[in-house]
Amino acid sequence: MLKDWTRFCDLSAKGGTMSLGDNPLVPPTDTGETLELPPSRLTATLGFGPSFFLREGVDRFGIAPTMPLHLKDIPRMARENIDPGISGGDVCLQICADDQQVAFHAVRNLIRLSTGRASLKWMQEGFASGTAGQTPRNLFGFKDGTANQLHDSAQGHDEVVWAGNDEPSWMRGGSYMAYRKIQMKLESWDRTSLSDQEATFGRSKVSGAAFGAHAEFDKVDAAKLPERSHVRLAKESKQQIHRRAYSYTDKVDPRTGNVDAGLLFISYQRDPDRQFVPMLRLMQNNDALNAYVSHVASAMFACPAGLQPGQYFGQRILES
Ligand code: HEM
Repeated sequence: MLKDWTRFCDLSAKGGTMSLGDNPLVPPTDTGETLELPPSRLTATLGFGPSFFLREGVDRFGIAPTMPLHLKDIPRMARENIDPGISGGDVCLQICADDQQVAFHAVRNLIRLSTGRASLKWMQEGFASGTAGQTPRNLFGFKDGTANQLHDSAQGHDEVVWAGNDEPSWMRGGSYMAYRKIQMKLESWDRTSLSDQEATFGRSKVSGAAFGAHAEFDKVDAAKLPERSHVRLAKESKQQIHRRAYSYTDKVDPRTGNVDAGLLFISYQRDPDRQFVPMLRLMQNNDALNAYVSHVASAMFACPAGLQPGQYFGQRILES
């Protein structure tokens, strides 16, 4: 399955399709909905969950010794409302493209290629939108991703994002992906005054500047931010992570008529035990943002380093 997935992703990212008209008596190999479409910057990022290596103590594939050092489920946190049906999993595929039809075509055909070999546990669509070169905004209307600039260099990525030399060889140069689906209570937020909205983050809504600063990327003086504000707490953790969040909109809650919408929080980090988990704990306990959000799904995956030509997803784990 991992070999088939690799071949499919390689082909699709270059704008190719699997054959369509090979045999009139069987369904076409490719579903066909991207035939005239460009590849639209399609990417596939693969991650392995803790249960891929060990499920209830059983080493199903004989690979437990190659498990990455920090791969474990995110521990339970205060105030969360996690639905196990849309959390965790053995393998995760994050598919991104500039065109939703291209992204879904990949998802759909990857599911078909897994038939009889794996089953789909959950799927979540999301979107991110913004002007090129500018930080995108989340559904609370705030610029989201500003602080990634702090480690925007090769050395910064080595320190914050890429897994180190103490990891099993396949994981070196890969990264841990933390995932939280976070419902955002848009109705309460939209009734909150602008000054309270800004105090929740400690940043100006329009410019993105931190309190006490003038522009989005000016240095943040944590002491000038409200004590329980989101950005101040993140600073107090003294850790950095690389955030790449998407928004989602799902459906209407029939009881309240409210829209189920929020943030697909995704962060990449070198060591979730040191960087992500303590930060999340601090926030779940104290963050002013908690009045407006609820964490409903959770997962941690280990994403191997990028493939060399001729390699397939997971090869260095399964053939080690
Ligand atoms: C719905 C939930 C969330 C929303 C709406 C949100 C939104 C924001 C916004 C607007 C900023 C300021 C601009 C920026 O630097 O990007 C920010 C910063 C940040 N957030 Fe969140 N965030 C959420 C959840 C989380 C979670 C779960 C974590 C990690 C546990 C997190 C970690 C951070 C960090 C590390 C920063 C950068 C702080 C700095 O160093 O300046 N956020 N977030």
